[in-house]
Amino acid sequence: MASAASGFALVTPASRGIGFALAQTLLSQTSLPVVATARKNCDEVRERLLSSKGLPSNAEKRLRILEVDVKDESTISSMADTIRREYPNTPLRLALTVPGILYVEKSPSQIDGASALDSFKVNALGPLLLMKHLSPFLPNKSGSAFPVTDDQLKLPSHAVYAMMAARVGSISDNASGGWYSYRASKASVYQIVKTFDLYLRSRCAERAIAVALHPGTVKTDFTKEFWKGRDMLEPLDAADRLLNVIARLPSDFDGGRGRCWDWKGEEVSP
Ligand SMILES: NC(=O)c1ccc[n+]([C@@H]2O[C@H](COP(=O)([O-])OP(=O)(O)OC[C@H]3O[C@@H](n4cnc5c(N)ncnc54)[C@H](OP(=O)(O)O)[C@@H]3O)[C@@H](O)[C@H]2O)c1
Repeated sequence: MASAASGFALVTPASRGIGFALAQTLLSQTSLPVVATARKNCDEVRERLLSSKGLPSNAEKRLRILEVDVKDESTISSMADTIRREYPNTPLRLALTVPGILYVEKSPSQIDGASALDSFKVNALGPLLLMKHLSPFLPNKSGSAFPVTDDQLKLPSHAVYAMMAARVGSISDNASGGWYSYRASKASVYQIVKTFDLYLRSRCAERAIAVALHPGTVKTDFTKEFWKGRDMLEPLDAADRLLNVIARLPSDFDGGRGRCWDWKGEEVSP
């Protein structure tokens, strides 16, 4: 396992879909400790992750699963307490915050207040509260650069804090309408990332950046209704491409920080 100075990686949630694939990829392509979360059945998620193909023999030691439901802030703060206790002096090198739910609304009449509120809680407030409790683990501007490893995934020497947005959260890209609460809640991720990155510029300088991500259209439970007749990325393919995109983003102030990047490495304008 890598030394504390190499930092740790975190994926929340990792129970299924893209989050699960991101955790699998970090276990197989890096030597970092990986903290992954699930809302429930942590032992079962751990077993499924560890039975993934091609994992190195130390994967079991490197993986820690913690229970987090982003609608309950106390679970997020207890995750932070556990990390503080179990990973002393270990900075957060890569954070991937992934929670997302969709209630399909094709017209205003289909909007249900309780469901829309749920979307905002998971898709907008979720990343906001995760950022609140996880940002203290990012390296400060006086922190040392992360050592370059000979891992298959070449992570940069600065920390990356990535939040899953979605292309449909882009206002400039909205040509077809619908999905009101999902679009609106995901649009806020672009704003949260930009604002957080401005904070990191002053607190961490080039030691940490924040970015938003669009994973492409990925074959998960999320898109199940649309699987028929559509070309979609497999979750592991999307995870691999996204990780390679964020690993290549520079940390200088004129680079791609504070913006949204898709799985091809192309910017998605807000
Ligand atoms: N798939 C796509 O094509 C696509 C495209 C654009 C953006 N995205 C975004 O990518 C992210 C992952 O999507 P996916 O395709 O992997 O979807 P998914 O397979 O439906 O997974 C959704 C994840 O969100 C978790 N979640 C739901 N409510 C939560 C809560 N209250 N607290 C914590 N976690 C919660 C689920 O946990 P449980 O297992 O406990 O339910 C699950 O791990 C989402 O943010 C989605 O908006 C996906």
